[in-house]
Order: sequence, then C-alpha cells, then structure tokens
Amino acid sequence: MWSILLTLAVTGILGEVVNVHVNNNTQSELGFEVDYDNNQFLLDGQPFRYVSGSFHYFRCPRQYWRNRLRKIRAAGLNAVSTYVEWSLHQPTVDTWDWSGDADLVQFLKIAQEEGLFVLLRPGPYICAERDFGGFPYWLLTRVPDINLRTTDKRYMLYVETYLTEVFKKVSPYLRGNGGPIIMVQVENEYGSYSCDVEYMTQLRDIMKKHVGTKALLYTTDGSIENMIRCGSVPGVYATVDFGTNTNVTKNFEIMRKYQPRGPLVNSEFYPGWLTHWQEPFQRVKAVAVAETLNEMLSLGASVNMYMFYGGTNFGYTAGANGGENTYSPQLTSYDYDAPLTEAGDPTPKYFDIRNVVSKYLQLPNMTVPTVSPKGNYGPVVLSPILKLLEETGRQLFGTAVVQTSDPLTFEALGLPHWLVLYETNVEPKQQYPSDPAILHAMVRDRGLVYVDDYLIGTLSRINNIYDLVVEQPYEQKLGILVENQGRLNYGFGLHDFKGLSNVSLNNIPFGLWRMTGFRLDSVKPLFYVESNVSASGTLYDGPVILRGGFTISDQPMDTYLNTAGWGKGVAFVNGRNLGRYWPLVGPQITLYVPAAFLRTGDNELVLIELEYVPNSKRMRLQNEPILNLEQYSVMDCQQNEEHVFECREQNLRKNLEVSIDERMEMDIILENLQWSSRYGLKGRYYYLIPCTSSYETWTKLSNIYEKDTKQQNMIQ
Ligand SMILES: *[C@@H]1O[C@H](CO)[C@@H](O)[C@H](O)[C@H]1NC(C)=O
Ligand SMILES: *[C@@H]1O[C@H](CO)[C@@H](O)[C@H](O)[C@H]1NC(C)=O
Ligand SMILES: *[C@@H]1O[C@H](CO)[C@@H](O)[C@H](O)[C@H]1NC(C)=O
Ligand SMILES: *[C@@H]1O[C@H](CO)[C@@H](O)[C@H](O)[C@H]1NC(C)=O
Ligand SMILES: *[C@@H]1O[C@H](CO)[C@@H](O)[C@H](O)[C@H]1NC(C)=O
Repeated sequence: MWSILLTLAVTGILGEVVNVHVNNNTQSELGFEVDYDNNQFLLDGQPFRYVSGSFHYFRCPRQYWRNRLRKIRAAGLNAVSTYVEWSLHQPTVDTWDWSGDADLVQFLKIAQEEGLFVLLRPGPYICAERDFGGFPYWLLTRVPDINLRTTDKRYMLYVETYLTEVFKKVSPYLRGNGGPIIMVQVENEYGSYSCDVEYMTQLRDIMKKHVGTKALLYTTDGSIENMIRCGSVPGVYATVDFGTNTNVTKNFEIMRKYQPRGPLVNSEFYPGWLTHWQEPFQRVKAVAVAETLNEMLSLGASVNMYMFYGGTNFGYTAGANGGENTYSPQLTSYDYDAPLTEAGDPTPKYFDIRNVVSKYLQLPNMTVPTVSPKGNYGPVVLSPILKLLEETGRQLFGTAVVQTSDPLTFEALGLPHWLVLYETNVEPKQQYPSDPAILHAMVRDRGLVYVDDYLIGTLSRINNIYDLVVEQPYEQKLGILVENQGRLNYGFGLHDFKGLSNVSLNNIPFGLWRMTGFRLDSVKPLFYVESNVSASGTLYDGPVILRGGFTISDQPMDTYLNTAGWGKGVAFVNGRNLGRYWPLVGPQITLYVPAAFLRTGDNELVLIELEYVPNSKRMRLQNEPILNLEQYSVMDCQQNEEHVFECREQNLRKNLEVSIDERMEMDIILENLQWSSRYGLKGRYYYLIPCTSSYETWTKLSNIYEKDTKQQNMIQ
C-alpha cells in the first residue's frame, strides 16, 4: 500500500477522542476511477471498495450533521451518499440558498473531516420522497407546459443554471481536487421514467464539463433490464439498486449486461423502507439486511445503503407517490426503519451491519454510539388564538384575492404549498335540475367544503372522494379550502399541479371564483395577536391557530410531540416548522423535535389545526416516538330505512378516515371516536378501530355511536 494513513484527532459527540483515516496518496494523482481489467475501483491509484450510507443533509438540522456522520463512520462505513435538492437551493427563480441547513459545502467538509468519502447525487430530479422529486415548484409557474426530464429547452436551460451553481460550490471538493467526492450521479433512476438517450446524453455532457476526470460519473437504476437499458448512458458507470429478499447474483447479472466489466455496485440497498400516511409503518428485518449485505460484500461489491440515516421531512417538504388514480403522501418522519433512527440513535440493525462490515473493512478505532437521552417535558396546553378564515386570519396570512371564472392552480397563484380557499356564490335552486345537489371537484389534494362558512364534508384525493352531496347550497356561499399534501415525487404524474379543477354542481360549472391563498411558512405574523377564540371538537368554521408555552429548565434534549387526539395540521416550535401531523390516520403519531429547535427557559408551540381540536387542548412532549400505529380496520355505519344504524367491519383502506392507536389511553381513544368524518352522505360514519380491540372498546364505541347519532339528529 502506498497510501499514508493520516490520523486526525477529533473530540466530540461520542465523548472520546476518535481516529479517522483519510487516504493521502502522495505518489499518484488524486482521483477516482474504474480499473476495468480487475473489476475494481481505484482511489488515488489504489484498489478501493466503498460501503456507504445515505444521509440527506436536508433532512437534518446542521447542528447534527457531524453527529450523524460520525455515527455512520463508527459503523465501519467509509462513504456517505447524499442527494442535492434543487428546490432547497433555488427557492425562487432568482434566489439561491447555500447557508444554514442548506450549507452543502459545510456538509462536505464535515464528511471529509469525519473520514467519509462522498457519493453526490445532484439530480436534477432526485425522487427522494420529497415534494416534486426535488424540483422547485416554480418550474410549473413559469413554464406550465414544461416537459420535465426531457430535452425540452425551457427545462434544460434551468437545469444547466442549477448544475452550474452546484458545481461552483462543490468542485473544490471533488476527489481530483483533494476533496471527498468520488462519485457524481447523472439523473436518478431515469430508466423507471423514460428512455430518452438524447436527454441522458445532454445531462452527461453538462456534468462531464464540470467534473472532468476529477470524480466518476455514474447512473443508478432498478435491476430490471429495461430500466438499466434506458437509464444508463455511454461513458457513465452504470450501477443497479435492489433490497433484501432477492437473488443477489441475478441482480448483478442484470448490471453486467450493461456494465460487462468494472466493480459490482448496488447504489441503493434498502435496509428499511418508506411509509405513507394511512398505511402500516414499513419495516425491513435486520437479519435479512445483514445476510444480503454480507452476500454482496463477499462478491467484492461496493454498496450504498439507502437510508442509513433517514431524518425528517420538516415543513412541507414531504412528497407523495401515486399516479392517475392513486395518491399516497409520505409521512413527516423519514425514520425509514433505518439503522440510525430519526433522532440518530443506533438500533440493533446498526450493530448487525457493523458486524458484517467488519469482515471486509477495518473498523475505525471509535467508540460505538449509544442512544441519546430524550426530554420528557410533559403536557403543553394550547389556547386557540385565531380562526384562519375569519377577518384577522385572512389579514395576517391571506394573499390578495384573485377572481377568475375557472379556478387557478396553486402554481398559477404563485404558492408553493399551504392552502388556497376557493369561494363562489351558488345560483338559485332552479339552475340545478335535481335535488340534492352533487358537488364534483377534482381536488389536489384535500378539500374542506363549507356552505355559508359551515363545514359540510371533505373531498380527498387519497381516498378518491371527488363527489359530495350538498344539501341546500342554493344562493349561499360555497367555499372549498384546498390543501397541498405534497407533490408526486415518482412516476408519470410528476407534473402535479395543486388546487381544484372540473368543479361543478349537478354537472353545471360555477360562474366566478374568488381565490385566497394562505401563506403558512412562518408564524411570525402571530407575534402581536393577543386574542382568544373558542374552538373545540370538529372545526366547522375552519382551521384554527393555537398557541401554548412550555419551559425547559436544563440543557434541552431531543423530544417527541405526541399529537394523539388532534385532527390534522402543522406544528411549529419556536418558529421552526416540525412538519405535518395527522394522527387521525397515522401511522405517525409523534413529531420529532430536535433539541436544536429548543432553548433553556420558555419555549413556544404553535399549531395550525385544520380539522379537530380535542377537549383537553393538550399535546405532550414525550421521550419516545410513536410511528407505528397499525393493525386497524374500518367500521362502516349507515342509517337504514328505519333510521337504525347498521355497522359492518371492513378493511377498505380507501374509506378510512379515523384511526386509533391501540396503545393510546382510553380517553384519547374516546376523543378520536367522537370525531366522525362526514362525506356528505347523511348519517354515514367511518370509524377506525384497532383489529385487536377488546370487547370493551367495541361497547364504548357503540355508546359513542348512539350519542353521535343523537347529535347529528339535533343538528338537522
Ligand atoms: C496530502 O499530502 C500532501 C503532501 O504531503 C499535502 O500537501 C496535502 O495537504 C495532503 N492532503 C490531505 C487531504 O491531507
Ligand atoms: C439466483 O440466480 C442465479 C442466476 O440467475 C441462479 O443460477 C440461481 O439458481 C438463483 N438462486 C436461487 C436461490 O434462486
Ligand atoms: C484506540 O483509541 C484509544 C483512545 O484514543 C487508544 O487508547 C488506543 O490505543 C487505540 N487503539 C488502537 C488499536 O489504535
Ligand atoms: C368532470 O366533471 C363531469 C361532471 O361535471 C364528469 O362527467 C367528468 O367525468 C369529470 N371529469 C373528470 C376528469 O373528473
Ligand atoms: C387566553 O387563554 C389563555 C389560556 O386559557 C390565558 O392564559 C390567556 O391569558 C388568555 N388571553 C387572553 C388575551 O384572554
């Protein structure tokens, strides 16, 4: 070996002095390339193999970057893989952000200091379970008919500008320039999307111009022949991705068809998996991960584990999967059942992986990480202070009202996320031939429907609910408050405009729409709001903003905000947006609150709650996450001709709207049950209950059911 081991002494988070090694070869040029004769990589001229873990800096506050990277190194890994997220770095067409949590250069520096090489994946499309697959939403504002991921000149122009800015930042960190970046990915699983050689060639040439021979360009595709055929491009190293429970040899044989020589590479080996709202928390067994990893490494492969540390989709950054008729937004948590949890704690899987890696790479002389202590700060009482749809709410958060005959999309209105209220005046009854009236609207993605400012039902893309029976809306104001739940990040529906389209009442379109956007990126406008309003139970008059305080006497620790019993919304701690919560459907019940967002002394919690406020008006800061509410079934109840309710249990996920974590306390269960989802079908309720519920729960459910029925009758 020619390389000199350079030892850096670093004191830090793991509590002790650790040694990390950086290869510094003084005899040959710095660089990273393929040795086709010997089926291996060469790092600075020396045989090299990486075992890497994915960690996206944009899912973690910068204060923790070093902590997470060091833990990745301590597992024996010698590289980290990250996407670069275009939308983060170019939030508007003429602003760039490379600071704070977007300080990619700092991330690269820390990775190098911690003894990790970097596999950089700058997209431009990244999927990554992020809003719009990492594309900035304004592409759809500026060029509504843009052809994404094609040679469309209007698209490629923005792509080239973005990549030029990326490489201005990262070029000094390419291996050939002495930095940690050894590989740079071209596009991302392009073979799953399309088969346009010209597009891949143009992208390759742009990247080649910036990277030259200072790092290795590569592509990543599913290990299916058509995918790798369409996703690979001459002159770029072709690699595959696959998970556990698969035939490793066979997968690599597919790679070999398009990459006959060179090292075997799995660029995304899945030690965990992603989870959507309204589905069970996804897990991958540690034993399967260890076995498959061992098998790949024994074949001499280089492997990147996706994700090794997942982190959090803070704010409105989570994306969605789906297509024409399906829509499944991802959780706020990107824990991913990864070897390191959302809070960066090692799991048994972490140690199993470390054992496997130790057979192939020398483990660094580092203390292994332990689980960090968490704060159990108890209940936070929240006071409703503002109703979003009332005058003050509109003044503080609303955009100027726009009027058009057809409803405009969020993108046309210049809104990246948040809410848009679409309002119209309904014509007199004689306009509409039949009774009752059926409202039809293609909603992207969820619409709370108000008649004369009173909630009458919900439209839902997740549950394919685009029709609603509306009783007596004539000559009244109809309002539909539409929420963007995250743009599709994968598949052919990538051009995922938000808002309302094809809206009609009994097939007759409406006349004129008034649109008010609500900017919910910051809760600063609440600073001077002192008022108290009353809000409890189902929010018939629209979303409410609540505020509460809590005190931390010592150095803050990471904690989890338990949202059980609430409806749907977003939570801010000290002005930082923790992301969306939706305990009614789960499976995620707690939001991760990093200590970096907290302070010793007084702290503030603000909620923007869209649907339901429990009587207790409390949330709790606890020391354990709940991400795995699962095992539920739906009870579908309907009034028959004799006005008696008939209920039947069913497992139709599509209908599920109310859910209960079995592990919740009984009072919270009751709170949840008291919320009934109303699809406009008179007297019809969906209750979601754990499959394993006791007889007692069922009995209580029936009692509440009767109560609901009485209330329902009183309202009418
Ligand atoms: C590698 O070694 C050379 C020559 O000794 C030195 O100039 C350079 O700073 C070293 N690079 C790193 C990354 O330590
Ligand atoms: C795995 O795939 C290889 C190559 O296609 C095949 O020879 C082998 O029998 C397969 N193994 C199993 C267990 O299916
Ligand atoms: C590992 O590190 C510790 C603490 O720095 C040191 O005492 C020990 O000698 C090191 N062991 C090896 C094998 O380098
Ligand atoms: C649009 O609405 C009409 C009814 O007004 C309906 O017949 C048609 O199928 C709808 N199209 C879509 C795409 O929803
Ligand atoms: C609002 O309610 C909270 C909690 O009940 C109370 O502490 C606060 O003084 C109230 N503020 C006003 C302006 O009434």
